[in-house]
Amino acid sequence: MDKKTLHYDTKTLQGITDIPGDKSISHRSIIFSSLAKGTTEINNFLPGEDCLLTIEAFRQLGVTITHDDTNVSVKSEGYQSFKEPQTPIYLGNSGTGARLLIGLFAGLPIFSILHGDQYLSERPMDRVVHPLREMGASISGRENGRKLPIAIQGNKLSGIDYTLPVKSAQVKSAVLLAGLFADEDTTVREETQTRDHTEKMMQTFGASIDIKDTAITVAPSTLQTPGNIDVPGDISSAAFFLAAGAIVPESKIILPSIGLNETRTGIIDVLHQMGAQMKITPTSTDEGEPYGDIEISYSHLKGTTIEGDMIPRLIDEIPIIALMATQAKGQTIIRNAEELRVKETDRIQAVVEVLQTLGASVQETNDGMIIEGNSTLKGGKVSAYGDHRMAMMEVIASFITSHSVEIDDVSSIDISFPTFFEQIEQLIHGK
Ligand code: S3P
Repeated sequence: MDKKTLHYDTKTLQGITDIPGDKSISHRSIIFSSLAKGTTEINNFLPGEDCLLTIEAFRQLGVTITHDDTNVSVKSEGYQSFKEPQTPIYLGNSGTGARLLIGLFAGLPIFSILHGDQYLSERPMDRVVHPLREMGASISGRENGRKLPIAIQGNKLSGIDYTLPVKSAQVKSAVLLAGLFADEDTTVREETQTRDHTEKMMQTFGASIDIKDTAITVAPSTLQTPGNIDVPGDISSAAFFLAAGAIVPESKIILPSIGLNETRTGIIDVLHQMGAQMKITPTSTDEGEPYGDIEISYSHLKGTTIEGDMIPRLIDEIPIIALMATQAKGQTIIRNAEELRVKETDRIQAVVEVLQTLGASVQETNDGMIIEGNSTLKGGKVSAYGDHRMAMMEVIASFITSHSVEIDDVSSIDISFPTFFEQIEQLIHGK
């Protein structure tokens, strides 16, 4: 437990700070580099706990992976040479690690057992297990495969035409990864587009993938390494500093090389809707994942409504958006966000409880929340619920509370943003 009592004296955050690599792309960079024969160099990899556990998983399969902080080198003989892991594979808190690896391992000729921490062990895995069983996968686990630990006896799979019942990139990715090893085409259809990093990386690694509107079809493929992968800064981590820049008076923050994939930039659209002063300069030159610099300054925000197709584009940013909304003029309504209930914690219940404790006026709804603006936050004792994004939202809140914020445990921040506190210090000192 790493308890923290925070009350920053500073009244402004200023300067440039580099945001660590994207968590979703870092996981996928290890998975695809391990599947392809040859050596892949990954730059700006996120050395957060979740992604480090994905590295460990592939080491257990016999892939040689070395890393020096954010530079990772993956040397693989290809998936045909994967060896059966001797011991269960531990995925910590990582929903992405668990769901993507269940999909991948279902079609490979190995037996594996996956398990996770107390939070991941309560999250639903049936959303990937159902379609995979339809493809012929042999998977068993707690509550008939609904929860970890899960055991997978990989075998030959059939293709499937599957319409996602939940708006989840993890489910889409699990089925597409299984599809790489099926005996015919696999199609995943999604009514609302979710993050497309798996599809982009399949293209980069030369998989046979075809995307028509909302249908993604993958054929059994052999992968080829592109040699190098550059991971852009994580917009979901940047979001905490974008919010801080917008709500902490007189702040001005510049964040270079942040991923600007449109399936992830809902936070930028919402900041615009709320009237934030922001400048975006795209800097990427090649195909693949787009990125650019974002500059944000303290702004007079107004409330907004966030719903529908926008939700998957900012699903991980809702805790910090809710905090911003308490400072905006007028009401903010968030709806169609029921997926928040099955994140690292129930983020609807957790956000509402924390913001109420801090002194905001927030009402919980089935699929979101209603936040009254113009709140003066006082501070108080809050829980991070073992959830990195809740903890970071609470830290940012402490910049605008009149009294201190006491957080039960901030250690989960290492999952996605191990340098969070150092970078806050940089911005406090205007570096
Ligand atoms: C992720 C997808 C999202 C997101 C998670 C990362 C991914 O989850 O919340 O942080 O890397 O595919 P869902 O697929 O459950 O929506």
